[in-house]
Amino acid sequence: MIQETLTVEKLPGCGAMVHDVDLARIDARMADVLREALFERGVLFFRGQTLSRQQHLDLARAFAPIDINRFFPADADWPEIAKVEKTKEQTSNIGGGWHTDHSYDVEPALGSILVARDLPPSGGDTLFADMYAAWDSLPAELQDRVRHMQAIHSTAHVFGEGGAYANSDQDALSGSRDLPETVHPVVIKHPGSGKPVLYVNPAFTTGFVGLSKEEGQELLYQLLPHAIDKSRTYTFQWEPGSVAIWDNRATWHFAKNDYHGHYRLMHRVTMAGVPLEPAF
Ligand code: SIN
Repeated sequence: MIQETLTVEKLPGCGAMVHDVDLARIDARMADVLREALFERGVLFFRGQTLSRQQHLDLARAFAPIDINRFFPADADWPEIAKVEKTKEQTSNIGGGWHTDHSYDVEPALGSILVARDLPPSGGDTLFADMYAAWDSLPAELQDRVRHMQAIHSTAHVFGEGGAYANSDQDALSGSRDLPETVHPVVIKHPGSGKPVLYVNPAFTTGFVGLSKEEGQELLYQLLPHAIDKSRTYTFQWEPGSVAIWDNRATWHFAKNDYHGHYRLMHRVTMAGVPLEPAF
């Protein structure tokens, strides 16, 4: 039976809460409704879901083919499901800084579906920031400066030998020889909505074409406060049964690391994207 009752509640700052939908029973028409809401709001949240591993994969495939992250450990026997895990003993988490996933790929992933599997008693929230609004909020001079620029996105400093994860107790994410680097427009035309989006991020953007490393860092620091202004972010508190679907092209996210001594396990399935075009 087609689910007719779904409502999309716009949240302050970023994203939307979707009510009255069972993600385990999504059909093509419902996927179209959710895709449109996702491209509009950047991230969708759901409560009270009961997705099995297979249903998690089926849901992702209703949006796009699956893109397996080359760095993350997979769930046993489920190579398409990445584990985002922090044990009681670990002090570092995964994704504990503002970023958007896969910007280093030639065809960056559309987004991910994160399912809460085991949560700490408190903490472990995820913050999301709206990159449509970030672009709109830039002062005109800064917009003019970056409008036609291109940025370099890399991985070695995060996932490579001696990179950020290698120097942490999440070192299982490091040591890959496959360390992509690519270039994308700083302002992309969102492939789904057609709107301009600021497409750089502090984790993987390592430079700008035509600027020195120092000039690039300076530019990134100028853009950062606009991107993460509180008025354009939303903090999602996870509960058992919570699911988030985010669009990597339209948002950044940040997993808070404030639950030391407790276990947290999320299952992440990532959906394939398309090449990105400049907005202007
Ligand atoms: C991630 O960056 O994909 C992790 C998000 C989270 O664990 O909340």
